[in-house]
Amino acid sequence: MSKKIGLIVGSLRKDSYNRMVAQKLAELDASVSFQWIELKDLPLFNEDLEKGEGPEAVSVFKSAIQAVDGVIIVSPEYNSGIPGVLKNAIDWASRPSRTSVLRRKPIGLIGATPGGMGTINAQLQTRHILESVQAQLLPFQKLHISQIHLKVDAEQHRLTDEKTKEYLQAYLQKFIHWIDHIPTLE
Ligand SMILES: Cc1cc2nc3c(=O)[nH]c(=O)nc-3n(C[C@H](O)[C@H](O)[C@H](O)COP(=O)(O)O)c2cc1C
Repeated sequence: MSKKIGLIVGSLRKDSYNRMVAQKLAELDASVSFQWIELKDLPLFNEDLEKGEGPEAVSVFKSAIQAVDGVIIVSPEYNSGIPGVLKNAIDWASRPSRTSVLRRKPIGLIGATPGGMGTINAQLQTRHILESVQAQLLPFQKLHISQIHLKVDAEQHRLTDEKTKEYLQAYLQKFIHWIDHIPTLE
């Protein structure tokens, strides 16, 4: 059966390179149904807001994660770490802790930066955080895209580098295959 994959971009910037990478990913496999899961409407996390129904934007966000077979996060790195908007979103999605939509959710991590380190530190932090809420992270595969500004057509807002497209394709195929082969531990 065709897979539903959620795409989360860890940058709110209009001209985000990471969004261009996610967009390319969404074009690579017509048999996959990609769903954009946006962070921009989420309020700052505050336990007081969890009382009652909680914010509508949070319900929409959590339902979107619940509805997909897996999520691929494509995110920049800020100050050698995870962007605040992404951490904020994970904190919302991690509640309630024992039954959160992140529990056992298959997740892949990709990141792009104009620098040379390809978001290594942010991805390590994100992996650590998501493992602490018992999400399942694609093992072994890493995709760190450096020098991203040289790999896009900035005016067209498109990733153009052929090698990067091949890496994305390979990552996506492995992610989708892995979802059907994750061992169950319970
Ligand atoms: C506050 C801030 C901190 C940053 N820190 C890093 C960093 O630690 N490592 C890095 O590779 N790039 C860093 N950058 C540069 C980002 O990688 C760059 O702005 C990138 O284009 C952001 O991703 P986006 O294009 O998807 O918005 C930083 C940018 C900002 C605004």
